[in-house]
Amino acid sequence: MTDPKPFPLPSKNSEILNFLKSRRSNLAKMMEGPGPDAETLDDILSVAARVPDHRKLAPWRFIIFEGAARERIGAHIGRVFAAQNPDLPDRVEFETQRFMRAPTVVGVISSPVECPRGTPEWEQRLSSAICCYNMCLAGQAHGFGAQWLTEWYAYDPEILVELGLSETERVAGFIYIGTAVTPSLPRARPELKTKIDRY
Ligand SMILES: Cc1cc2nc3c(=O)[nH]c(=O)nc-3n(C[C@H](O)[C@H](O)[C@H](O)COP(=O)(O)O)c2cc1C
Repeated sequence: MTDPKPFPLPSKNSEILNFLKSRRSNLAKMMEGPGPDAETLDDILSVAARVPDHRKLAPWRFIIFEGAARERIGAHIGRVFAAQNPDLPDRVEFETQRFMRAPTVVGVISSPVECPRGTPEWEQRLSSAICCYNMCLAGQAHGFGAQWLTEWYAYDPEILVELGLSETERVAGFIYIGTAVTPSLPRARPELKTKIDRY
């Protein structure tokens, strides 16, 4: 068997640097169709899955919501919201429409693998967070708007059961992907030097 071809050594890539330095999320509520086609979504998911992952556990999985699936989960969200907020009937329709804001929504599920004396659960959760970030970047690199949201339904036990999450699984994020129709505005960023110490 021949040795696998090694990757080239890193070299400066100003295009990627500029992309990362000017990165800005797009608001889900400012997205329209179309979303990524099947081939593009596959590519986005393959980038999302190419994340640092201690011990190759792949401790995450993805749930895709497109088309009528968004209405189905929306109906559950509306029902749960209505039951929990009987004093807010005017808001139920809004909750029902959450997944309709973008043509494609991908749930990133943190799915830790039992690994005694191995990779700490914390690191496995972190790996799923980077899936979310990579997915946003890949979506935007494909020319779509992307936003990482959790909102209340990512933490609601009934919704998690509906989505088929196990006891140990958590929602790392719902990544909304669609055609951005409004440019994002600049957002205040922390003063970097207040975040840096030298040891
Ligand atoms: C784990 C996680 C959950 C988030 N959930 C929400 C959310 O529910 N609602 C929201 O408005 N922004 C949420 N955000 C923030 C947005 O994704 C986005 O980062 C924010 O609007 C700032 O924009 P920027 O990415 O351009 O800096 C979340 C971010 C992270 C990392």
